[in-house]
Formats: sequence, structure tokens, C-alpha cells
Amino acid sequence: MLMPNSVPDLRDAATAARENAYAPYSNFKVGAAMRGASGKIYVGANVENVSYPVGTCAEEAALAAMVVAGETEVIEAYVIADAPEPVPPCGACRQRLKEFGKDDVTVWMGTTDGKEEATTIGDLLPGAFDAGYMVRS
Ligand code: THU
Repeated sequence: MLMPNSVPDLRDAATAARENAYAPYSNFKVGAAMRGASGKIYVGANVENVSYPVGTCAEEAALAAMVVAGETEVIEAYVIADAPEPVPPCGACRQRLKEFGKDDVTVWMGTTDGKEEATTIGDLLPGAFDAGYMVRS
């Protein structure tokens, strides 16, 4: 069951990370925070590039930081942006979340002016491709 409000530590971490986003092309800064199974929080922000497709997402950076630190399971995620409504992770980042989190993991989406919604990895990516499809019985 989803909680009505996020725990502030995750939101605060995503908010702080967002400040360091490098988004001179879209002017759309995004921050993300992942709580690993250990309880530790890993953060990321979007990093754009003059060659636009080379840019990376906030969720991608936060998940990479988690993996580099030696953790491979996310138990809660937060994404924040300055938007009229909470911004959901892009398609590629849904697949990245799926790689490291179970379907019931809560993904919080917040706006800088305080709106907040929650969803789950399973709801963000129904019918996902996973390793089970690569096994012939
Ligand atoms: N972006 C993210 O970092 N995460 C999202 O969930 C949505 C989009 C970034 C990518 C790009 O730098 C900018 O937001 C505009 O798409």
C-alpha cells in the first residue's frame, strides 16, 4: 500500500541534487534520490550535452551512484522537478528502475512547490521485459 506522504529525507536529498543539475539546453533541472536496501540514499541530477541525445537523466545518475557504491537494490525512489505537475520517469529510466527494484517499490514524484504523487515501478512499466524471457524451458 502506498503511503500518503514521502519521508522527507528522500525528498530533501533529491531537492539538493537537483540544484546541481546541468540543464542549459532544456532549462529543466531534475533531481533524483534512491534509497538502497542498506538504507543509504544515492542522488543524481540530469546532465545535458550540446549533442542533445548524449544527455543523461537524474534517475540514471542516482541509480549509477547506487551501483558504484556496491548496492543493487532500490527500495524507494524520488524524482523532483520544477513543473506544474509531478514528472514521471522517462521510458528508459522506467526500465532502469525495473532492473534494480521490485514491482512494489514506491516511486515518488514531486514538484518544487510541494505537489507530490506516488506510483510504483510495476505500475510505471507493466509488461516489462525481464531476464525470464531469455530462458527456454
Ligand atoms: N529528465 C530527467 O532527468 N528525468 C525525468 O524523469 C524526465 C526528464 C531530464 C532529461 C533532460 O535533461 C530534461 O529532463 C528535459 O527532458
